[in-house]
Amino acid sequence: MAQSLHKQKYTILTLFLFLFLLHGESQKFSRNLSSKTLGFKKQKLSHLHFYFHDIVSGDQATAFRVAQSAITNTSSTGFGFMAMMDNPLTVSPERTSKMVGRAQGFYASADLRESALLMVMNYVFSEGKYNGSTLSILGRNEVFTTVREMPIVGGSGIFRFACGYVLAKTQFFNITNGDTVVEYDVYVQHY
Ligand SMILES: *[C@@H]1O[C@H](CO)[C@@H](O)[C@H](O)[C@H]1NC(C)=O
Ligand SMILES: *[C@@H]1O[C@H](CO)[C@@H](O)[C@H](O)[C@H]1NC(C)=O
Ligand SMILES: *[C@@H]1O[C@H](CO)[C@@H](O)[C@H](O)[C@H]1NC(C)=O
Ligand SMILES: *[C@@H]1O[C@H](CO)[C@@H](O)[C@H](O)[C@H]1NC(C)=O
Repeated sequence: MAQSLHKQKYTILTLFLFLFLLHGESQKFSRNLSSKTLGFKKQKLSHLHFYFHDIVSGDQATAFRVAQSAITNTSSTGFGFMAMMDNPLTVSPERTSKMVGRAQGFYASADLRESALLMVMNYVFSEGKYNGSTLSILGRNEVFTTVREMPIVGGSGIFRFACGYVLAKTQFFNITNGDTVVEYDVYVQHY
């Protein structure tokens, strides 16, 4: 009995301490900053250009199907299939050309009528001052359209506060094994 009372007192004390801390925290939940405080000076607009290699065949494959729906095999658009990728990004259309980064994420058939993919990917750059910085892309990729536009939803490193868009153009599609090369033009605003 005495022990239980002691326990109860302890619990109440802890609760008060918690509420006290919570109150203290809430007073500095937000504050106004000038962009210079974080070292952001002038907004820039950059253009990046590279080739994306979706390698789905062979022992060097970088994209793998990971899921499907009950209708994927009978749907004209393969609805519900999903592939996970870690695709190389290179300066020229040749796979062996200099690599500038990778595109990591997934794409999935998300349209019952047209061939359109939901693309969710991070470009992870490895080139020069971009090394280690990322851009996040989330968009609709109507694969048989000549030029597809997708939004840049954010970025990290050199690309903090990123916004903009990418334009994708299929450069090469091997109908036998499904390997694809896509040219990307990236227009990104950042600091
Ligand atoms: C931040 O700026 C807004 C708009 O200028 C102002 O209304 C607000 O009081 C400021 N907040 C703080 C914590 O200074
Ligand atoms: C669809 O086809 C793939 C490849 O041929 C097969 O592995 C899979 O089991 C099929 N899925 C269904 C739901 O029938
Ligand atoms: C990129 O950064 C990583 C880790 O900091 C480093 O190991 C690598 O050599 C760098 N690559 C280039 C091309 O600068
Ligand atoms: C397309 O894929 C097939 C099968 O892997 C391969 O034999 C052929 O060389 C490829 N074509 C090109 C142009 O790379």
